[in-house]
Amino acid sequence: MDKSIDEIYQEAHDALVGVSDLEALEAINVRYLGRKGRLTAFLRNIASLPPEQRAEAGKKANIAKKKLEAAIKDHGERLKAGVEKREEGIDVSLPGRPLTPGALHPITRITREICDIFERMGFSIAEGPEVELDYYNFEALNVPKYHPARDMQDTFYVSDNIVLRTQTSPMQIRVMEKQSPPVAVIAPGKVYRCDSDLTHTPMFHQVEGLLVDDQVSFADLKGTLTAFVHAMFDAQTSLRFRPSFFPFTEPSAEVDILCVMCRGKGCRVCSHSGWLEILGSGMVHPNVFRSVGYDTTQYSGFAFGMGVERIAMLKYGIDDIRKFFNNDLRFLRQF
Ligand code: PHE
Repeated sequence: MDKSIDEIYQEAHDALVGVSDLEALEAINVRYLGRKGRLTAFLRNIASLPPEQRAEAGKKANIAKKKLEAAIKDHGERLKAGVEKREEGIDVSLPGRPLTPGALHPITRITREICDIFERMGFSIAEGPEVELDYYNFEALNVPKYHPARDMQDTFYVSDNIVLRTQTSPMQIRVMEKQSPPVAVIAPGKVYRCDSDLTHTPMFHQVEGLLVDDQVSFADLKGTLTAFVHAMFDAQTSLRFRPSFFPFTEPSAEVDILCVMCRGKGCRVCSHSGWLEILGSGMVHPNVFRSVGYDTTQYSGFAFGMGVERIAMLKYGIDDIRKFFNNDLRFLRQF
């Protein structure tokens, strides 16, 4: 006997694995369990073994035979079930559909990253409606009807007094109406403006920040935003505060960071100025406090609003804002 019963059994068992039709299965049955089959031959040979080995060898061979018979029967039943399914129109031998893992959109990632940085500084998150009352989007923010400052933002009107919010600033009012100082909130979300080109899409994302307490100064605004820029980009990224105008802040400043592409030398991305604008900010205008009933003699605060796409473009070096919304997987998979 050249092969042990274990080896014969293992060989038969391995052969079963790849069998996908009943004919091939029958061939294996014949090869091992048929009249001239290998396992059958092994059993027959036992008679020629020395008497003291026969009982043991016979027992092992019979167990192997039973196991193999069962395995072949089982495999046959599964094949038959498969054939039946195929006749019903279900092909169980087809490979399954691959599950591709999902991933976060780059805008979601950057939004979360921005919020995380401010949460670590003690700000909490607030969210509000995208379809907004004119009152919150403009009036309570010191922009009365027919005020020329409304032209700064190309508004989508839903009706006379309802708009798609053009900024996240209405969240300043909504938060302060509900809460008395101290206030430290961050409000991320979608905003809408009737504008579309390389650097503008009709829908984009902003993150608003508001901090109110007694004795909040412009120095607090500078310190907070400097800490943010250093966390978001790196500690070598310098920033500058450039005087500006917003109806709801006074004084107001736009914040530029040193161009992340050329580090201030001047390039196409920064229009050769060496600086890139990333947000608008300022000290909360007393009229805004008045519209929520805050005591303007006791409290002061700062607010800022930044464009998420803008920050994402700078961070990832993307030159066309529309890429974020084309849903081209070749683009999105890079993040
Ligand atoms: N809401 C302003 C904008 O969209 C940004 C801003 C927010 C400026 C808060 C000052 C204070 O342009």
